[in-house]
Amino acid sequence: MSHPTPVNEAAAQIHEAVTPIRSGGAARPEPTWHRATVREHTQVADRYHYLCLEAPTIASRAQAGQFVMLTVARDGERAPVLPRPMALYRRDARAGTIEVIYGVVGDGTRLLTTFRPGERLLCVGPLGQGFDLDPSARRVLLVGRGIGTCSLTTVAQDLAGTPTDVIAVASGRDASTVIGGPRYRAYGAAAVHEVHDADGSSSVAALRRTLTTTLDADPPQQIMTCGSERLARLCRELGDRWHADVQVSLEAHMACGLGYCHGCATGTRGGPQESPLICADGPVFRYAPGRAEI
Ligand SMILES: Cc1cc2nc3c(=O)[nH]c(=O)nc-3n(C[C@H](O)[C@H](O)[C@H](O)COP(=O)(O)OP(=O)(O)OC[C@H]3O[C@@H](n4cnc5c(N)ncnc54)[C@H](O)[C@@H]3O)c2cc1C
Ligand code: FES
Repeated sequence: MSHPTPVNEAAAQIHEAVTPIRSGGAARPEPTWHRATVREHTQVADRYHYLCLEAPTIASRAQAGQFVMLTVARDGERAPVLPRPMALYRRDARAGTIEVIYGVVGDGTRLLTTFRPGERLLCVGPLGQGFDLDPSARRVLLVGRGIGTCSLTTVAQDLAGTPTDVIAVASGRDASTVIGGPRYRAYGAAAVHEVHDADGSSSVAALRRTLTTTLDADPPQQIMTCGSERLARLCRELGDRWHADVQVSLEAHMACGLGYCHGCATGTRGGPQESPLICADGPVFRYAPGRAEI
């Protein structure tokens, strides 16, 4: 059945400007599943929860920017039927664990908060197209807003100890919603800008000023962003200014996460003109340089 109207309104606004990555880089890992044991589950700040799961195969395979689908209905529970997509905040192949930070939005994430260490939940992954890291890049700029930062931290994890400088922006509504600063520092980021709305430091104008002042002389070759359309537009503008490759991780309501249901198309759903699927062609897409302004 064809659904010609654009879905995922937010993504639809930018889908014209992005293209699937389909990189010639590392092949995408085969997804698998675990009945993953909860190793640790704690509340962080006021709004977020930290979840550490034993998922050794996913931990060893996941590429930066990929995600997992978590089924939060326990055995015998009927709802919620659909799994929930979550970015990998960190993975530790040696410990066999993956880490997620999430905010409570509705029934699924509310139920997720009730899982205690030792309980198990179904975890499928690693899924989707992650970020395409250019090994020749000397500097990479990561720009995340709120929970969107969780899609970017694994880039810094992969670049830790390499000659590539990471410059990170972690943005939020207030100081308690700014995620990732300590993790970026632990990975040896060259600079971390923690900005928020409460003091105006997160405005597009303020960030543009901060980033152009500090980076114009030695700009990044790659820019990666997640969590805000406003910031995605700024990244695109900066990418034009610095002739940098810009990649954006998009969000969508995902029923399967596997490319089966076709509910996550970036624009037109179904039929021969179907837009790319955020779960399978993304969630990371590349901004095509020189396209119309969004
Ligand atoms: C690739 C990807 C990675 C994500 N990573 C994270 C993360 O690291 N941390 C985090 O807190 N959140 C993340 N999200 C958003 C998270 O999946 C939703 O907040 C969650 O599914 C909401 O479920 P719910 O049952 O609590 O909310 P409800 O609103 O009750 O969910 C109802 C339905 O809508 C879907 N849905 C609702 N909001 C969203 C949303 N914003 N994005 C996608 N689906 C949604 C749910 O999957 C479910 O099918 C990610 C989303 C995607 C697509
Ligand atoms: S969520 Fe089912 S195809 Fe993308």
